[in-house]
Amino acid sequence: MIQVSQSNPNGSNRKRRSFLLYLASLALFYPVVRFVGYNIPRKPNYIKITSQLPLAGYLITRDFILFDKGDLCWALSRKCTHLGCKLHYSETDDILECPCHQSKFHASTGDVVKGPAKKPLILFPVEKRKSSPFYIVTT
Ligand code: FES
Repeated sequence: MIQVSQSNPNGSNRKRRSFLLYLASLALFYPVVRFVGYNIPRKPNYIKITSQLPLAGYLITRDFILFDKGDLCWALSRKCTHLGCKLHYSETDDILECPCHQSKFHASTGDVVKGPAKKPLILFPVEKRKSSPFYIVTT
């Protein structure tokens, strides 16, 4: 009985060639994937507040709450860090509350007081001025 073994010398070449093709396609598409995933940095948005704050010392806008406690001014984002609902300010507790899942944030720092949110609120830089615009908030 004669056994014929079939060794295909081209089989290993074919595997090597397809592997090299795979590597070449990765090298070609890598710049494209990098370009698609690239985030262009957002330009800062300067919001001018042309009126003095009410006596309560805070102003609620669509995107942030501006606090002015004498020498200290700060603005906190109203976007909940859990899923993005608009926060409400509770003056009696001095916290920002989320109506969606009841997360609570400290109004002075933006830190999470109660979850499910885990990240603190975004703190926007505020420039306080003596004439109009009295406040410039950078968002
Ligand atoms: S969106 Fe605010 S707690 Fe869920």
